[in-house]
Amino acid sequence: MQTEHKIIIANSQQMPELSDSSIHLMVTSPPYPMIKMWDAQFAALNPQIANLQQELDTTGKEETVTKIYDAMHETLARTWRETFRVLIEGGIACINIGDATRTVNDRFRLFPNHSRVIEHCEKAGFTTLPYLLWKKPTTKPKYKGKGAFLGSGFLPPNAYVTLDCEFILLFRKGKLRKFPPKDPHRYESAFTKKQRDEWFTQIWDITGTRQTASQLERRIASFPDEIVNRLIRMFSVKGDTVLDPFLGSGTTIKLAMQNERNSVGYEADKTLLPLIKKKTASHATNCKLTVIKRGN
Ligand SMILES: C[S@@+](CC[C@H](N)C(=O)[O-])C[C@H]1O[C@@H](n2cnc3c(N)ncnc32)[C@H](O)[C@@H]1O
Repeated sequence: MQTEHKIIIANSQQMPELSDSSIHLMVTSPPYPMIKMWDAQFAALNPQIANLQQELDTTGKEETVTKIYDAMHETLARTWRETFRVLIEGGIACINIGDATRTVNDRFRLFPNHSRVIEHCEKAGFTTLPYLLWKKPTTKPKYKGKGAFLGSGFLPPNAYVTLDCEFILLFRKGKLRKFPPKDPHRYESAFTKKQRDEWFTQIWDITGTRQTASQLERRIASFPDEIVNRLIRMFSVKGDTVLDPFLGSGTTIKLAMQNERNSVGYEADKTLLPLIKKKTASHATNCKLTVIKRGN
C-alpha cells in the first residue's frame, strides 16, 4: 500500500495544516515538565515560564515552582486541545510521560506529570482509558545529587522509591470508532492471540532497545521502536493517519511507514530534520515523504 508522510517543522500548539477530524491516532512523547533537560525549551515556548524561572532564581520562592509546573502543563495542554480537534470520532491518543522529582529549597518533591496530563486531556474533552506502564531501566530519584538513599544505607525512613516506570496514557475522543461490516483494512490489521495477550497487559517490560540509539536520539529521549510499533498496531488500521505532535527523531513516522499507515509529525526544533530524514529514509519504499516548513 502506498502511504504518505509529512514532517512539519512548526509548533504543534496550533496545527492549521490539519483539518478537523482528519487523524485516526496520536502517538507521542512530549518534553516532560520539571525535568531539567527540558527547562530551556519550555521557556522558549512560553515567555511566562522564562520569567518565572528568573523569579525563582532570584527569590527562591517555593510557590514559584508550583507556578512553573502549572505553566509547563498549560503549554502542553494547547497541543492536547489541538489534537482533540484533529482526531476523528473514536480516535485514540497515546501519551508517553514520566513523573519528575526535584529538590527546591531543601524540599524534595514529586511532580506527578501523568495526573496533570490526564486532567488537561479530560478538560479538552477526551475520555481517559486504562493506561499502560512502561517499566524501563531505573531512573533513581536524586537528593542534592546524592542518589536516592541519602547515605542512609539500610536504615529507615528517609530513602525514596525508585521511579522505574513511565506512563503511556490512553484517551479516546467521543464514542467507539465505527467501521463498515467486514472492513478489509481492519481485518488485514488484526493482531495474533500472542500479541493481544502481551500488548494488552498493563506493564510493558521493554528494556535495552535504546542501546542502538545515537547520542542525539538519547539527548532528546527518543522512545523505543517496539513501544510505537505496538501502539500503532493496537489502535489503528492500515491506511489510517497517525499524528505525532512532538516528533523528535521521527520514530513515529518510521513505524507508521513500516506498518502501512500514513503519518504527520510536528517538530519545533529544525536542527532535528537531518536525523528525522535519516531515520525514515530506509523505510521509504512505497512511502511519499514531504517536508513542510511553516511560513515558507
Ligand atoms: C521527548 S522528545 C520526542 C522524542 C520522540 N518520541 C522520538 O522518539 O524521538 C520531544 C520533542 O518535542 C519537540 N517539541 C517540544 N515542544 C514542541 C511543540 N510545541 N511543537 C513541536 N515540537 C515540540 C522537542 O523539540 C523534542 O524534539
